[in-house]
This record gives sequence, structure tokens and C-alpha cells, in this order.
Amino acid sequence: MTGSVIVGTGSFLPPRIVSNDMLAAELAERGVETSDAWIVERTGIRQRHLAERGVTTSMLATEAARSAIRDAGVEPAEVDLIIVATSTPDFVFPSTACLVQANLGIAGGAAFDVQAVCSGFAYALTTADSLIQAGRAKCAVVIGAEVFSRILDWNDRATCVLFGDGAGAVVLRASEQPGIIAANLHADGSQMKILCAAGNVAYGEVMGDPFLRMDGQSVFKMAVNVLAQSAREACESAGIGLEQIDWVVPHQANVRIINALGRKLGIPAERVVITVDQHANTSAASVPLALDTARRDGRIGTGSTVLMQGVGGGFTWGSVLARL
Ligand code: UT7
Repeated sequence: MTGSVIVGTGSFLPPRIVSNDMLAAELAERGVETSDAWIVERTGIRQRHLAERGVTTSMLATEAARSAIRDAGVEPAEVDLIIVATSTPDFVFPSTACLVQANLGIAGGAAFDVQAVCSGFAYALTTADSLIQAGRAKCAVVIGAEVFSRILDWNDRATCVLFGDGAGAVVLRASEQPGIIAANLHADGSQMKILCAAGNVAYGEVMGDPFLRMDGQSVFKMAVNVLAQSAREACESAGIGLEQIDWVVPHQANVRIINALGRKLGIPAERVVITVDQHANTSAASVPLALDTARRDGRIGTGSTVLMQGVGGGFTWGSVLARL
């Protein structure tokens, strides 16, 4: 049976780095009070990359895709599927994936976006793996990319300090030996209100609320529980024990969520990749960004068994277990 394997990773971050102190000073000018101490203690975030006005998700996604394609050593023309996971697309349509395809100078393959907020990369990677397994694609670029700074209410200190912008990507190729060894995707739409940006463009104007809103404590509790269940489900379906996972690459929202998850699963902190301190929460980009960071610094090597997990708005969650 045909499977799929990750043969390259890449990422791109907008160059402007904003430390907590810089952000606190900017927010103070609008009368919004926060501090480096509060942000570090409650979230583990120390800085975030923020895109300049006019920099779009497709621009970040294209750079991440180029970097993953280079890493994989494939020709852009071999790519017959592009999936972009994003909640901050450039346009209502066409999809961000179509814009990336055009930027890469290729045409003819499938290209579409997946909208599952911070679980988007798990959803997109699982979709690409399924299409390859079904024989409908051979070489996919799967991207998580966001400019979340566009949908933040900079007067709401409970959310605006938490997010950053960026993009990560993988190249997934058909292979005889399956590299994606298990995956599960879940949603509970009845929980939509705990994390949403319930606005739209209609009749020539913005309808509803264009900003992200979150009940942080509900999200926190739900995230730890569903991620633990989803990790166990992935291991069971692959027929391996949690102790056989070399690296967990969880969604990077809050270091306290990541630590609580590790404790619940009995996975030591040395086997968990953390980048939220450097990138903050980049939603669908967070997992591929963290994966690329840990591959490039040599922590995750060929042969590693890696559990990637997303959780976020919808409410959505899911896991992909991969052998690299
Ligand atoms: O991608 C998935 C989406 N996101 C998440 O996974 C986030 C999940 N939730 C969380 O990470 C945490 O709930 C937060 C980091 C959002 C908040 O941490 P918390 O420990 O749950 O704090 P809290 O909401 O209970 O707020 C504690 C206090 C409040 O003040 P009072 O009422 O105790 O006086 C807040 O007003 O902290 C205050 N606060 C702040 N203070 C300084 C909230 N935001 C800030 C801030 N700076 N930025």
C-alpha cells in the first residue's frame, strides 16, 4: 500500500521581533496595561514576530514552501498538491494555496485551503496523506501560515499578547513505507464560542466581530484533556506505546498547557519541542514552525517518531504520528 513520508521541512518568520517589553510599552501608549513578568509567568512567551502591514499570509506561506521544497530536494514542478492551513487567508477567494501555487510558478495540481484554526496543520497534513494514500497525489506541500496580528484586538490584553505571525511547511511524498503512521481529527462545534473570530465580509462591509475572542481558561482546560486523549488514540492506532515517541511537537499556545500535557502523558520535558517562547502562538503555523526548528537544530533526525498535535477554535483538535 502507498503511504506518505515527510521529506523536507521549511519555515519563514517576518523579520520584526517584538519582545514582551516592547509590546508592553506599545500597549501602554493606548492605556492597556501588561508586563513581561505577567506574560512569561502565565504563558512562557518572551517575544513574537509580527508582520508589517501589507505583508500577507500567502507571502509568508510561499517563503516557507520554498524553504521546504529546497530542503526536500524536489523540483517545484513535481508538486501536484498544495494545502494551506490558515484562518487569516489573503482573500475570501481565491484560496491562499492558489496564490502560493502561482508564486511557485507551477500550475495544474490541486490547491486549496483548510480552515481548522490552530488544528489546521494536523487537518491539512492528514488530508494530504489521505489523498496520497488514495493515489490522487504524489508530492504535496502542506503549509500552516498566519498573519494573526490582523485579527487581534490590541485593546484586549487577555488575547493580544498571545499571538504572532509566521509560516511553516512540509513536503510530503508518496512512499512504499508509510511515514505518517497514525492520525486522528476531531471537532466539537458546540464549543465555538470559547475561541472565535465571528466576523465576515458581506454586502460591502464587515459584519459581526472582526477580532479574535477567547475564554482562555475554558480553552486551557479543554486543550489539555483533548490533546491527551488524542495522543493516546494515535499511539493505539499505530500499535506503539507513548514511551516510543521520540519527540512531541504540540501546538504552541502556552508553555503551561504543554507542560500539563507532558505530565498527563508521562512524557518528559526533554522530549517535547517548545518554541512558543520565541514565536508565541502562530495558530496553524505553530506545529510546522516548531517541527522545522527542531529538525534544523538537529534534535529531530531521520528515523525519529514524532507526535504532532493541534488544538484550537472550532473547537478542533487532532494528532499526526509520523516516522521521519
Ligand atoms: O491556540 C489555542 C488558543 N489559545 C490557548 O490555548 C490559550 C489558553 N489559555 C491560556 O493560555 C490562559 O488562560 C491565558 C494565558 C489566556 C490566561 O491565563 P490565566 O492564568 O487563565 O489568567 P486569567 O485569564 O485568569 O487572568 C488572570 C488575571 C486577570 O486579572 P484579575 O481578574 O485576576 O485581576 C486578568 O485581567 O490576569 C489579568 N490579565 C493580564 N494581566 C496582565 C489578563 N491578561 C493580562 C495581561 N497582562 N496580558
